[in-house]
Amino acid sequence: RADGPLDAVRVLMTAGPTREPVDPVRFLGNRSSGRMGYALAEALVGLGAEVALVTGPTALPAPPVAELVRVESALEMHAAVMSRASGCDLFIGAAAVADYRPVEPAGRKIKKDAGELSIRLVRNPDILAEVAALSPGPFTVGFAAETDRVIAYARGKLEKKGLDLIAANQVGGERGGFESQDNALTVLWDGGSRELPMMTKTRLARELAVLIAERYGERHAA
Ligand code: PMT
Repeated sequence: RADGPLDAVRVLMTAGPTREPVDPVRFLGNRSSGRMGYALAEALVGLGAEVALVTGPTALPAPPVAELVRVESALEMHAAVMSRASGCDLFIGAAAVADYRPVEPAGRKIKKDAGELSIRLVRNPDILAEVAALSPGPFTVGFAAETDRVIAYARGKLEKKGLDLIAANQVGGERGGFESQDNALTVLWDGGSRELPMMTKTRLARELAVLIAERYGERHAA
């Protein structure tokens, strides 16, 4: 399609959960369904963007993106993103990336011998922060999933990670956030903010895509 606000803009994004292997049959995961990220990918395609989507495992049909890269763990997502990041104009981290992974996954299924079991965890790389630190780097959009103090923590992530925009959502409540069909976002940037109230993730993604295109356009006009 021609003359969309993101025509020929190369977008790289992440969506869905990651799975951190514990042993050959188990993993540590989280409640991300991928809906928010997939809806956003589709909305960006609708605005003309050329989208590469790096996704953790989801039950969703593939969105109509130019490139779909399926990964499982945070380390795989990190490698898939970093090998593509220097060629993109806009990066969006919608995935719920595990902050920690088991130090060393067991080679065999762990047996239930003892009454207690400890799994040592080590920090995963922060994909979003690494992309935001690239120079020259893309226009960078993060999400923030918080159960409390949503705006304060999101503003902190925006500044600490050096992002251009952050979309903050409340998670762990009855409506919105992980798994649900609906969501609400507070979008923050340096010097501004916008509330996108509770609605379906499909509609919300369209509104967020328009806002991202506006902020991206403003940056490139400057
Ligand atoms: O998938 P759904 O069920 O539709 O749910 C949508 C969602 C709640 C998962 C989504 O809207 C969302 O908020 N995604 C980000 C979830 C998250 O991991 O938030 P965070 O506050 O822990 O991380 C902040 C940002 O850093 C995110 O952009 C995240 O992608 C990124 N990150 C985090 C850790 C890490 N190791 N690497 C990262 O890139």
